[in-house]
Amino acid sequence: MTAVTAPLLQVRSVAKAFGGNRVLEDVSFQVEPGEIVGLLGPNGSGKSTLLNLVTGFERIDQGEVLFEGGRIDRLPAHRIVDRALGRTFQLPSMPTKMSVIEVAMAAATARHGFFDTLLGTRAAREAEERARVEADALLKEFLLTPVRDLPSSALSGGQKKLLGIVCALMGKPRLLMLDEPTAGVHPNLRNDIVQALQRLNRQGMTIVIVEHDMHFIREVCTRCIVLDRGHIVASCRPDELSSNERVLQAYLGGGRAATESEKVNA
Ligand SMILES: Nc1ncnc2c1ncn2[C@@H]1O[C@H](COP(=O)(O)OP(=O)(O)OP(=O)(O)O)[C@@H](O)[C@H]1O
Ligand SMILES: [Mg+2]
Repeated sequence: MTAVTAPLLQVRSVAKAFGGNRVLEDVSFQVEPGEIVGLLGPNGSGKSTLLNLVTGFERIDQGEVLFEGGRIDRLPAHRIVDRALGRTFQLPSMPTKMSVIEVAMAAATARHGFFDTLLGTRAAREAEERARVEADALLKEFLLTPVRDLPSSALSGGQKKLLGIVCALMGKPRLLMLDEPTAGVHPNLRNDIVQALQRLNRQGMTIVIVEHDMHFIREVCTRCIVLDRGHIVASCRPDELSSNERVLQAYLGGGRAATESEKVNA
């Protein structure tokens, strides 16, 4: 008998409005273990909001979100991180006084527990040392070693993006959700990010990436989901995007492409 693998993430009929602005409506999709999914769509189509809903930074109005088969849509953000669902932010902001290495190490508390690190026990000191070693390895991988001891707020926009990825990886996520990871990052480093994500994926990490850079999407993603004004209008391979009428209409048509049901009912 073949084992059936459950989807890692299931988003079911999710809706979200801010006041009268209906930002997401009836959004459903799932992510299978091992995928690298690109989440695309014009500015304001609801991509970051969707990440915020899945990771507990905003509350859904309707629908369900399941991670590894369990409901997470009523959990606070820190409990979702504890379940190994990590994320980065489109516009990362860093604590003013903490150094880069301290920020990276603080992200490990998601795994080791907030209170252990405060107790000063031998176990806590050992956990702290492990976190330091892991943080240093990741800072090296993302070329942040030269700024390791600077205040994190002093980093450039691109470096803050990279530190955001380091922090998310400190939590050892099984699902990593990245919001525009290469925006503002130098092209050379962009290739390093591509390679790092592909290596993490080979090691078993599932990844969802919000991205506008189509080269990046084609290089990295196994599948794309396209949002237009809060509706999913396509789920296809990256090489199918340019010939998908609903995707073209979303980007060029200045309006939401008709959903299948709307077409049928027209
Ligand atoms: N906290 C909020 N309060 C009110 N409106 C919000 C809030 N967050 C998002 N919105 C609105 O939701 C809509 C979608 O925004 P969102 O940031 O999700 O778009 P996006 O697809 O990530 O766009 P971009 O590609 O520009 O990052 C926008 O109209 C935005 O103004
Ligand atoms: Mg966004």
